[in-house]
Amino acid sequence: MNKEDMITIDGPAGSGKSTLAKNLAVALGWNYLDTGALYRAVALWALENGYAAGDGDKVGEMAEKLELRFVNLSGENRVFISDRDVTGLIRTAEISSLSSSLSAYPKVRASLVSIQRRLGQYGALVAEGRDMGTVIFPWAKLKFFLSADPATRARRRHHQMIMEGQPSNLENVLADILARDRNDSLRQASPLKADPMAVVIDSTNLSLFEVETIMIGQAQKIFGSNFSLN
Ligand code: DC
Repeated sequence: MNKEDMITIDGPAGSGKSTLAKNLAVALGWNYLDTGALYRAVALWALENGYAAGDGDKVGEMAEKLELRFVNLSGENRVFISDRDVTGLIRTAEISSLSSSLSAYPKVRASLVSIQRRLGQYGALVAEGRDMGTVIFPWAKLKFFLSADPATRARRRHHQMIMEGQPSNLENVLADILARDRNDSLRQASPLKADPMAVVIDSTNLSLFEVETIMIGQAQKIFGSNFSLN
């Protein structure tokens, strides 16, 4: 394995990146990296320390010194700031919105480059986010860009929240997805876009299983005998 033996998955909120990246990592026996969790942890720290959506320059400077870590506990990747497990605190609507705003600041993005590259230095990784294939791991041998129309993504996210027993309102979920699409795609710094080498999959009319089958087929083509499916 070398660092190019890696799969990147980029796409907008609710496109199924997390589930698919996790499933693919399990299928290949590789590690999984959720880079959105790093932006969310920075946003949580910012919120708790009195910073707001417009304070990205200051937050970026401070974030350089944050000790962010992933710890695998019982097969689940948990996010820590120093010794504090913040996994349960970073999935709120407030943190979704703040992380999207702060992630537009070049200083915030720069503060997270080295941790992401360190976690990917040995390859054998499925990394998901917004700029994995374009900026963080341009050398990845296989890149995907997942999309689906906003209404479909909102329905899926809403359904997932309900299944997890969390309160959810479809209209609010759609509004959040549209706002984050705008923020994440229109920002100057590493905007959400498909790398020219990425395999683009529009999953609007595809099931999770169908998308996964396409991805595994591509992985087998690229990595061939380098891996066997579990
Ligand atoms: O994937 P997510 O919804 O957990 O990400 C939260 C926010 O973090 C997202 O709205 C934009 C930002 N983000 C980013 O800018 N770049 C990444 N690689 C991952 C996330």
